[in-house]
Amino acid sequence: MERSQWGTRAGFILAAVGSAIGLGNIWRFPYVAYDNGGGAFIVPYLIALFTAGIPILIMEFTMGHKYRGSAPLTFSRIHKKSEAVGWFQVFVSFGISTYYAVIIGWALAYSFYAFNLSWGDDTGGFLMGEYLKAGDVGAVGSFVPSVLIPLLVVWAVVLAFLFKGVKKGIEVANRIFIPTLVVLFLIIVIRAVTLPGAGDGLDALFTPDWSQLGNAKVWTAAYTQIFFSLSICFAIMITYSSYLPKKSDITNNAFITGLGNSGFELLAGIGVFSAIGFIAYATESAVGNYAADGVGLAFAVFPQIINEMPFLNGVFGFLFFASLVLAGITSLISICETFIAAFQEKFNITRGKAVAVGGGLSALISLIYATEGGVHFLTAVDRYVLTVGVGLGGLIQVLVLAWALRKVKDFKEHADGLSQIKLGSWWTICLTVITPVLLGYMIVQQLIDDFT
Ligand code: PHE
Repeated sequence: MERSQWGTRAGFILAAVGSAIGLGNIWRFPYVAYDNGGGAFIVPYLIALFTAGIPILIMEFTMGHKYRGSAPLTFSRIHKKSEAVGWFQVFVSFGISTYYAVIIGWALAYSFYAFNLSWGDDTGGFLMGEYLKAGDVGAVGSFVPSVLIPLLVVWAVVLAFLFKGVKKGIEVANRIFIPTLVVLFLIIVIRAVTLPGAGDGLDALFTPDWSQLGNAKVWTAAYTQIFFSLSICFAIMITYSSYLPKKSDITNNAFITGLGNSGFELLAGIGVFSAIGFIAYATESAVGNYAADGVGLAFAVFPQIINEMPFLNGVFGFLFFASLVLAGITSLISICETFIAAFQEKFNITRGKAVAVGGGLSALISLIYATEGGVHFLTAVDRYVLTVGVGLGGLIQVLVLAWALRKVKDFKEHADGLSQIKLGSWWTICLTVITPVLLGYMIVQQLIDDFT
């Protein structure tokens, strides 16, 4: 069977950017930057982007383009024995998909709550009551209806696009959602920076604490953020680039994707911290009291910000949560495509069957998080994915490709043959030395932290 292809170059770039821009950009980056040196974080962040992020992105685009398969197939075409590396990444992506969907489901519910501020004054209490109603740790309990329906809607939309295929489904979704997201988000950021107190928030985010640059934790945070945010080492970019037409400028595409994602991330930092500056101002308290990330930021602090805003606050709230939904859905589509493509090729089944079985299974598992005790699983899986999935997945990939199979030179010739931008020794050194050493160090450090 003829392999599916993207309709246009822009379609591929939008899909890659759509995968990269996700919840990680909006609710993770701003806090990570704030917590790890503020303005000074830019230094390790940019170093991580140019020594690991973009180089690995170029490598993954090259692999997909050259070997034209889902991650396991691509790895097995490079070397029979490395197929397992692809499956490991697919497995991690599957794990992410099961809880990522639930968070998008919450955001969908909240985008409707925003109109009449249904969360009331005690936003934290509302969140605990409606969503985090955890009984005994690990107890599953009954379903929380307010999450269940939006979760099913998210799955219906995601699986429908996946079912339609690469060009008519994934590409179309990204062509609609990503430009819409950018417009919505610009409106949010403009509104946020014009709120009173915004300047204090931005000061808190950007004031550099240079002493932090000597801290290993800050560097680990920068690399983790780049890997997660760029969706690299999760089988995603390999899968997406396997649908590229023969003549594609891989290197250029990788730069556009990497810089586009970081640009959005910076914008999110500005928007989120302006809004945090405002709530601190409105409640006459310190910015630090509201700085948070993840579930707490999006579903407890933001509703509070929306409550306090002067006019059209319901609309602002809707736009904020709708942005989370759009950013999340395009990432979820990409995560699911990794295992759908892998199942399709491994078991030689149609896309429809792979979507039904793979997507259906993930959707089914995601229901666990929509129960009263579900949030405990969510936090545990998220932490595991971030430490083991990101660090180990990345380390195995570079060690196998750069050292065990010595593929870097091959890949470089392939990418250079397609682009005006030639990959210098910068690329080789990053992949063979800098990234493996840093990732290895990161994992050891993490283990030491966990066990001491
Ligand atoms: N890159 C996406 C984000 O920033 C999420 C993601 C991570 C997607 C890992 C796939 C794999 O939220």
